[in-house]
Amino acid sequence: MGIGDWARASNPQSPIPDPHSRYLIRRKGIPSMSVTAIVGAQWGDEGKGRIIDYLAQQADLVIRFQGGDNAGHTVINQYGKHALHLIPSGIFNPATCNIIGTGCVVNPQSLLAEMATLEAAGVVLDNLWISARAQMVLPYHRQLDVLEEAARGKDPIGTTKRGIGPAYADKAARSGLRIGDLLQPVWLEGRLDNALVTVNRKLEILGGEPVDGQALYGLLMEYRDKLGDRIVDTVPMTKAALQAGQAILLEGQLGVMRDLDWGIYPYVTSSNPTAAFAPSGAGLPARAVDRVIGVVKAYSTAVGDGPFPVELHDADGAKLRAIGLEFGATTGRPRRCGWFDGVAIRYAAWLNGMTGLAITKLDVLDTFETLKICTGYRLPDGSVITDSMPDTPVLNEVTPIYEEWPGWMESTENCHSWGDLPAAARAYIQRLAELADVKIEYVSVGAERDQMFGV
Ligand code: GDP
Ligand code: IMO
Ligand code: MG
Repeated sequence: MGIGDWARASNPQSPIPDPHSRYLIRRKGIPSMSVTAIVGAQWGDEGKGRIIDYLAQQADLVIRFQGGDNAGHTVINQYGKHALHLIPSGIFNPATCNIIGTGCVVNPQSLLAEMATLEAAGVVLDNLWISARAQMVLPYHRQLDVLEEAARGKDPIGTTKRGIGPAYADKAARSGLRIGDLLQPVWLEGRLDNALVTVNRKLEILGGEPVDGQALYGLLMEYRDKLGDRIVDTVPMTKAALQAGQAILLEGQLGVMRDLDWGIYPYVTSSNPTAAFAPSGAGLPARAVDRVIGVVKAYSTAVGDGPFPVELHDADGAKLRAIGLEFGATTGRPRRCGWFDGVAIRYAAWLNGMTGLAITKLDVLDTFETLKICTGYRLPDGSVITDSMPDTPVLNEVTPIYEEWPGWMESTENCHSWGDLPAAARAYIQRLAELADVKIEYVSVGAERDQMFGV
């Protein structure tokens, strides 16, 4: 049974591409890249979206493997500037199949809004699919996110208030609703009734309004009508693509420092953006992944609460924010800015098994006379950490140790190759790669698609 047969049997509405169609056959002349995970190496907003948009020009399949509409993946290309929240960043290539994977939490309302925005810009969405096994973020999850943050009082997490934590909590508690449930109305009704018992109790405790089950069911039926033909079992698609040796990109949301298990818990998101989770969230065997590209900004930023040792509260921090336009793509919050953190990159590189680095936003440093790189953390007792990541309470107490590097004081925006970069810029990013112990594969020197090159 082929992909098309299976999908049509499970979802008669679905115009699923045949496995032998242009969606799933590697296009002539494009080398297979096999399976590449693209992951954030810092605190998020490293420029993952633009790297994936660039690489997707040669990819057959792009799969978002975790997270929800808390993402803001900015892509600038011939369709304009778009901050993608749920839709994979390969969507701008009409020949690339894009899947919102099982590891994601999908708010149908914001997905529909995002689809409308892209369609209005002329982007064709025929290649967009949603895993039937992905969880749904419903209006009550957003309500709970806001109420839970308020209940944290003076020590909030600083969430995006998109309902991500409550949706993943329901998934783990086995009371979540999956997007595939929309195609099974009787089953859905039972699941919803069941979920609302607990949800309404939680809302009452936190001072919220109870959910009107009937109205919500009606809304879910609207989502089914609008999204039903994109909801599929994605495994036959990923299996066929892998077996055909196609170029597959796995798109991560956020960075390792906000990973549920390995980040600055509890100031983390509620899923795992690290590469080890990528095949699971995407629906591929673990051993399928053969490249892991860590996307890393040439300096550091974070949005939300929690320890961020390299944060600058001075003129340099303000300058990084102003030149780098460091404001959240989803919430508009000003990002906390700081020098490059070599301890965090070493940790991120090892944990993700990075095979290459994509260094972004080098141009933002063009006008700094002197640059600093954090190479270690000093603990209150005077000892120094260089090659491990202390846990949150300890990380709150560390002082960064910096080395200084000369700036290049000239524009890199028009550089199109390694050789075009000023010698001081090459030396600076080589030092970043040395700290990560990973080779540089891509460098970006501006937000436009062509302001990036392979090394
Ligand atoms: P993501 O969430 O990891 O995809 O990153 P964001 O889109 O949230 O943040 C990256 C921001 O930097 C976006 O506004 C991009 O347009 C911008 N950007 C990406 N790469 C570069 C670059 O090389 N130079 C400059 N100046 N801006 C960049
Ligand atoms: P992209 O995909 C930066 C942060 C929030 C908060 C924590 C938990 O664009 O890199 P959540 O809403 O997920 O429960 O918030 O994670 N956060 C992000 N920070 N970029 C993002 O997405 C983020 N998504 C969540 O600020 O600290
Ligand atoms: Mg972002």
